[in-house]
This record gives sequence, structure tokens and C-alpha cells, in this order.
Amino acid sequence: MTETAKHSLAPWTENGSIRTVCVLTSGGDAPGMNAAIRAVVRAGLQEGYRMLGCRRGFHGLWRGDIVELDGRSVSGRLQQGGTFLMTARSQSFNTPEGVKKAFDMCKVFDIDALVVIGGDGSLRGALDLARLGLPVIGIPSTIDNDIGSSEYSIGYDTAMNTAMGAIDKLRDTASSHERCSCIEVMGREAGYIALNVGLSCGAEVILIPEVKMDFDKDVVRRLLECHNQGKRHYIVIVAEGAGDTVEISRCIEEQTGIESRVTILGHVQRGGSPSIRDRMMASQMGVLAIKSLAAGQYGHVISYQQGRLSALEIEEALQMTKTISREDIETAYRIAL
Ligand code: F6P
Repeated sequence: MTETAKHSLAPWTENGSIRTVCVLTSGGDAPGMNAAIRAVVRAGLQEGYRMLGCRRGFHGLWRGDIVELDGRSVSGRLQQGGTFLMTARSQSFNTPEGVKKAFDMCKVFDIDALVVIGGDGSLRGALDLARLGLPVIGIPSTIDNDIGSSEYSIGYDTAMNTAMGAIDKLRDTASSHERCSCIEVMGREAGYIALNVGLSCGAEVILIPEVKMDFDKDVVRRLLECHNQGKRHYIVIVAEGAGDTVEISRCIEEQTGIESRVTILGHVQRGGSPSIRDRMMASQMGVLAIKSLAAGQYGHVISYQQGRLSALEIEEALQMTKTISREDIETAYRIAL
């Protein structure tokens, strides 16, 4: 992308300034998305922008599923889970023709700038539109917390609290029956939910895709050591990208003799009223997204690093990575035995 394309207004923008801003949510929903939409809409109106909402993510943009939003459209949304603009995993957008059609639809609706709230795939969609010359701002939102450019993404805290509440209950019954409870948590190819929920629930074993485990030593031996030290329940957290939870549970039972049960928490982790952390982050990120647009920072994504929010160039942000190490798991293990 050229410097000009990075920082220019949409080719059809009149009077050399942004007048109409559209917001959409894309990819998997996450608690706090509504709070982010609310912040974007209200901050945008205060900035003097006309605010539009695109329903059903990029698929909706492609189809022109766009509505006018005012201050009242976002009333009562702050505490609601899901996204009232709805979301989709768009196949139609995933081609150069699809991106061009979405870009052209922005012209049809006089959209001068687009705010995209979503995960890594959604931010890549935003980058595709930015490359065609549309001013975009991304807001990281996914329960997986796997966006390399930001230490935090909206929805992560609520999802972890939901998982933690469920695991605390599973621990009760595992304890009564002296069983192992193998619990699969979401995260796609990332283990952030598994690691931190495991730490917070005192899990005996945490399996994540980032860290290769030796099943005999890291699972069988560890569970038997726990048993020999007098433990009467065993919590094994499996990140969904780390393996087949049913098979892991079967092998545990076979190799340790400890009765084991499987729970796949699934989409329950994506629902519910956002936690205070998610409401705060969503509100602050939404306001910063509008401030960035007003300051002419087009083609940026909001990032949270070392306790601070900032706007990073989207192209560079999407090349950033973060990861989990074995030491992070060992910290959890040290106090779980
Ligand atoms: O990215 C969020 C997430 O919930 C992942 O943790 C999970 O792998 C995926 O989405 C599930 O997607 P879907 O809602 O399409 O089943």
C-alpha cells in the first residue's frame, strides 16, 4: 500500500472530510461487542458524523444491509451479550470480487469510513478494504484473545469467567466421585482461555496448542503424582486446538485407572452479559476508534499494550504475533499440586 492510499479519504468523500461512518461486527460474536458499537455510535454522533450500522458483518456490507443509527438505537445495549447488528462468517466477501463489491457498496451508501469490530479474520477483511482506499478502523474483539497486536480483545474476560464458573461446578462433582474432569474450552488455535482459566481453577493439567506435551509424562505421570499426594479430583483443561478431548479422556482413564468424564463447554462461552472489564475495554476502544478517525488515522487498529490503548497501522498490526510458553503453564502447575 502506498503512503497516499494509507492516509487518504475514500475516493467519493465530499468536502475533504468524513461525514458518514458505518460500524459492523464480524466473525464469531463476543460479549462486549454491543458495548463497542454503542461507544462508536455515540462518540461518532458527538464528533458530528452521521452513523450507520451494517448488519451481518461483511456479508451485510456486500448486500447493502445497512441501517441508520442514532443515540437511541444503542440504548440498553451496553449490558447485552451478542451483537444486535448480528454477525456472519462471510464466504462471499472472501474473494477479490467480494471485497470490491463491498467497497462499491460503501460508495452507494456514502460511507466515508468503516469501523470493523471483530477478530483476526475480520481485521484482515478491513485491511482488504483499506487497500482499495477505504478509511477503516479495527477494534479487536474475540473471546480467543489471539490477536497478535493487542494484549486484550473484547469478550475474552467474560468468556473466561463463564468457563471458570462452569469448571468450579464440575470440580464439585468430580470431587464427590473422585473423578477426572476433562473440559474442552474454546480458543481455535490459541490456548489463552485454557491457560488462564486453568490457572484460575487450579487445573492439574492444561493442554494448549502452543506447547507440545508428552502424554505419558505431562498427563499420566502428573495425574498419578497428584493422586499419590492425596488429590481426589483432577481437572484437565483442553484447549480446542490441542487435541481430541474425548480421546484424551479415554486415554487418561485407560492409563491411570482414574474414572474420567468429558465436558465440552462450546458456545456457552460466547454468550452472556459482558463483564465490567469487557464493558470498559469496549467503551474505551470504541471512543478511541472515533478519535483516531477524527485525527485522520485511517487504516488503523486499536491495540492494548502494557496498560495503554493506542491505534496502530493495520498492515503492521496484522503482522505482529504473541505466544504462550511452557513456563506460563508451569506457573499454574506449581500451585496446583
Ligand atoms: O473465534 C471464536 C470462536 O468461538 C473459537 O473459539 C471457535 O473455534 C470458533 O469461534 C467457533 O466458531 P463457530 O461459531 O463458527 O462455530
